[in-house]
Amino acid sequence: MTKIPAAAPVPLYGAEHAADPQRSYDLLRLQGAVGLAEIAPGVVVHLVTDYRAALDLLQDAETWTKDTRGWLSQVPLSSPIRPNVEWRDSLFYADGEYHAHLRKVITDSFGLLDPHDVRMVTFRFADTLVQRFADSGTVDLVGQYARQLPLMVFNRLFGMPDEYGPRLVDALAAMVDTDPERQAAGGQAFGEYLGTLYQTKAEQRGHDLTSWFIDHPNGLNQEEAVNQILITLGAGNEPLSNLIANTCVRMLSDARYFGTLTTGSLPIQHAIHEALWQNSPLANYSLHFPKRDLTFHGTHLPAGSPVMVSYAAANTCPHAGVPTDGYRSGTKAHLAFAAGPHACPARDLALLIATAAIERLTSYLPDIELAVPVEQLTYREGPFHRTLTALPARFTPLAPDAEGATPWSRSPADSGPDAGPNAGPDAAPAPTAAPTAAPTPTPTAGPLAARA
Ligand code: HEM
Repeated sequence: MTKIPAAAPVPLYGAEHAADPQRSYDLLRLQGAVGLAEIAPGVVVHLVTDYRAALDLLQDAETWTKDTRGWLSQVPLSSPIRPNVEWRDSLFYADGEYHAHLRKVITDSFGLLDPHDVRMVTFRFADTLVQRFADSGTVDLVGQYARQLPLMVFNRLFGMPDEYGPRLVDALAAMVDTDPERQAAGGQAFGEYLGTLYQTKAEQRGHDLTSWFIDHPNGLNQEEAVNQILITLGAGNEPLSNLIANTCVRMLSDARYFGTLTTGSLPIQHAIHEALWQNSPLANYSLHFPKRDLTFHGTHLPAGSPVMVSYAAANTCPHAGVPTDGYRSGTKAHLAFAAGPHACPARDLALLIATAAIERLTSYLPDIELAVPVEQLTYREGPFHRTLTALPARFTPLAPDAEGATPWSRSPADSGPDAGPNAGPDAAPAPTAAPTAAPTPTPTAGPLAARA
């Protein structure tokens, strides 16, 4: 293993980092609260690894800007991280009043979602996915479950008919393919999806997020509305998939949880919380730039230089005081959803969907177990996400005609109305034509969607 001098940028990409990110964070800590990290070949940023310093940055909107435009010329167009940092007119890259203006549209609209409906919608799509593999006795919980479920749910919450869910899944999967042609096709398909979504809802509103974005009193124009939808879909999908998978692996590999599946001895929320503290689904992000030269926690930062926060390192740094069992009931909160004005606006929604997804899966498959030793699991290479490449599991196959609750026969307790946004009289009609007037977004799914 190569020994890296304390002041050299620590690579956050490649197999070595993916295999043991905490080693990278330990090396960065040797540089202090803020260290130099290389997030892609030739792209170096300062990375905050200390809990206190992370909070100081995230909560200080005066000193920092999130606008990436001044820095983008230093990121090669061919860099794998380029889609994750590309500026777009969205709350993600906005500051101050304009950020608050855009963000209110999103928080108000999320606030209109009924948690019970969201839970039922998640159950419903979880059933659809489990039906596809339940009788085989084996599953890749990443590819066949965690990576598909969030987008099927979002497709519904944003107001599209269910048959559009797989199109969204396929489009975003193609966009992160290594084959450039497939990537381009994915980008085009995602652009078409967004165009159709906007057009459909502009013509006929429903009880869904898109309609609420369009009708919000803050009055977004068409381009702004599409950009916020794009960023929200992009920002929500990958971290939520990761959280579901990272929690599943914890539950299937940690002796304290084995009993949970059958006896409910430790709640799923406990495992989710541990995953957020110790295996942050989004490991490093919150890209900021100081508006002036400054010394921050002992490090000189020139104006406009890129600074990122490592939620994964901050959560596990000695100052975070994470309890030995990883489940905190003290005063500090984990930083997996960031903090301050740009903190994730969908924290509760994400927790609700992740809990329902795992609850439903384990209720049908109580003896599910890992099909390979946990040490053999691998994570995708890249600086931002903590993403398993696959999570093979096995279980006693479930026959469609088995007695009791199966994914084919929804249990009476769950059999309320086909609940959820876009259900009932407001349900969206299936769009018949390709969009004509909607803006065509560039083929990137936004900062958190790309696989880097
Ligand atoms: C486990 C799941 C999730 C995690 C760990 C997570 C984490 C985060 C983090 C760390 C940020 C701050 C990023 C930055 O400022 O650079 C963020 C922002 C954001 N997240 Fe999430 N997120 C999750 C799920 C979701 C979901 C489900 C949605 C929407 C459906 C969503 C929408 C957003 C949006 C729109 C922002 C931008 C907020 C702003 O700039 O004001 N996230 N998220």
